[in-house]
Amino acid sequence: MIFIINFVEKFECKEEAPRIVCDRSFTVYDIDGNPHEFTPEFHHGVFNDRFQEFMELVYDGYIEGRPPHIVDPQNSCLAKLHHQDFSTMSASDIQNKMRHKQVVVTGLPFDEKMQFDAKGLRTVVGSMTAQISITDFSVINPGTDCVPSVVSGHVNDLLENASSTGKILNGLDLPMWSSYRPSNNYETDAVAWNFTRRTHRIPLHGPFPTQDREWGIAGLKHVLTFLHIDCDGFNTRYGTKVGRKLWAFLRPRDSKKLSSIDFYMDEDGFSLSGKPKDIKYDFEAVVLRPGDELHMLPNSAHWVYGIDDVIAQGGHYYSSYLMQETLQGIVHAFVLNKFLTNTEHIPSRHLLRRILIFYQVGLIEGAISEDDPALVHLPNVETMEGVLNIICLAVLIILGNVLDFRTYSTPNQGEDDEASPTQRTLMDTGDINAIPNNERIAYCYARGVALHILKWLRSCATFTGPPDGLADDLISLFFVQILASLSDYKSLAEAKTYGGVPHCTSHLLSKQIANVLEVDPILKAAWVHKERVPSHSLGLKEEEKYNVEWRRDWERTSWRAPSVDFTLAGQTPFDIKYFEATKLRINSENANMIVDVVKPPRKKAKLLLYAMCTLYNILTIILQSISLIAILLFKICEPKYFASKLVIVWQHSSSRTSFANYVCGMMPSITQISIQTDSVILSHCEINVEDLARSDYTETDDDGSRASESGSDNEQEL
Ligand SMILES: [Fe+2]
Repeated sequence: MIFIINFVEKFECKEEAPRIVCDRSFTVYDIDGNPHEFTPEFHHGVFNDRFQEFMELVYDGYIEGRPPHIVDPQNSCLAKLHHQDFSTMSASDIQNKMRHKQVVVTGLPFDEKMQFDAKGLRTVVGSMTAQISITDFSVINPGTDCVPSVVSGHVNDLLENASSTGKILNGLDLPMWSSYRPSNNYETDAVAWNFTRRTHRIPLHGPFPTQDREWGIAGLKHVLTFLHIDCDGFNTRYGTKVGRKLWAFLRPRDSKKLSSIDFYMDEDGFSLSGKPKDIKYDFEAVVLRPGDELHMLPNSAHWVYGIDDVIAQGGHYYSSYLMQETLQGIVHAFVLNKFLTNTEHIPSRHLLRRILIFYQVGLIEGAISEDDPALVHLPNVETMEGVLNIICLAVLIILGNVLDFRTYSTPNQGEDDEASPTQRTLMDTGDINAIPNNERIAYCYARGVALHILKWLRSCATFTGPPDGLADDLISLFFVQILASLSDYKSLAEAKTYGGVPHCTSHLLSKQIANVLEVDPILKAAWVHKERVPSHSLGLKEEEKYNVEWRRDWERTSWRAPSVDFTLAGQTPFDIKYFEATKLRINSENANMIVDVVKPPRKKAKLLLYAMCTLYNILTIILQSISLIAILLFKICEPKYFASKLVIVWQHSSSRTSFANYVCGMMPSITQISIQTDSVILSHCEINVEDLARSDYTETDDDGSRASESGSDNEQEL
């Protein structure tokens, strides 16, 4: 068997890692109160120790040896619903039930014959030879004290190790391309998605992100997932098909809430993998059996242990009733990232944008009829809780780019890669980052809608609250509170060297915050008063003391879309810079642009290049002048440079004339011909060319006598 550690380093496992059997057993309970006893096993003592610390905190919460959900259900964070009741409840009743507690629905139908075998595994992943991410608990990740390695293997590896001597493995990230289940009427994102098709600028055919919402899990007995929150502020739905899982939820003991930016970074008061020094919470645990389905709130810290080999199916969704918790979960995950959560789903933002447009259509435009089941997913604007859910979603959408991981990465930049000079130039000059163009437009449009909704709230509702609160300008001041808390949270996390979003620094975050404030002068003006708001919390302090009252005379017609161009209204200065730069690129680039590092010329190189160009130009001018002068001289002196006289030294007379004619034809400058021979009689004669052409000439001897008269044997003919 070959595993690839972190997908890079090959690791060959030749021997089964030995196991440590815990020296004690534990008894935990399902939602019906039935006990389940188990004895855990681990590959490393550190896991054994940490698990026992977790279980201590579970037992600390027991009342007379029994868990709160059985003995004191009123104060328990867990609630029970039977499937028969659940299936007949309205969406609003279900959401109300799930608003403050982790709900376990019992009695769902399941396949009792299904086992942890190939047939069972194929229900959550297509092929047994599919390559998947696997957490291998036999190998501790180098550089950490108790984090198991994530390796790459086949689904078959899970089956081959499903024995008391095998490696303890957990199969992660098995996205489902189909949910294999009927849609739920309580999942707001699915309802909003369906309703908003062909409204505003949303197409009818957009693909729903099923693979980011539905997933399978296949884990072996004794798998332990340490404390974490689920990603993207999602609600989580989870049900086992085969085997039992123990889920434990963090329950704060004091007033310090999970909305606090200090909670997870309190090194004495919080521990991901065991019992903290200063205990401020305990755990409530419940056993999930086949036929149970858990519904977990957003921003819920939890850990999970496999009592058996388990095949499970789960999903994520958003609820209109829990947008405050969704905002808190997203901000925590943004600042602490891998420290606190385990993955991210970019399409989650698409779902949130659709919900916001659903609010605009339903609450402001009044386009959802009374008999439409979607209506119950609109927040109740008559309550502060409902209004706060709207505000929180609007804040999330306005901060869309600020909270998007890709904002801080340049195009094609890896998580651990430094930006190349070209990538850096693109980012600096055009804010061109890893967010694609179409999503950038979608962010602007949704931000425009969010600003419109906040303006509507500001204009049509009035708020009352505690005298030292934010009621006088609740909308703007709560927005400022979230921004100030985010900024402080990031600075604290950076000082304590928590990882956070790749390539995001406090400095870059501050630039993004300053940029987004430019989009609304009212929000920007409120930022000046940030000292007035608490900057350590992501929730509204003393929320129960606030009230909302609506102006009865507000009219929908003045708030209906498209009363404004949402895309233009939602553009930040960085967006404008981006769109201008993108337009230039499109107009000037070819398909192979940006293939390599392009360094801008240095100053010295520029000067040298300029000097060389100037010298070249000067030389060119000089050469051209010389040429011109030469031509002029040539024209002036032409006769001097061409022969005007042909001298022929010829022994015989037969071809002199034809030769002289030929040469004179070639050289028109010749005007006179001189013939010289070695003859004593005709040693020299001079002939004009005109005469030669007319054959009208007289040869003379040196003594001046006519040659023709001499009768000499040496008489020459030209
Ligand atoms: Fe989880």
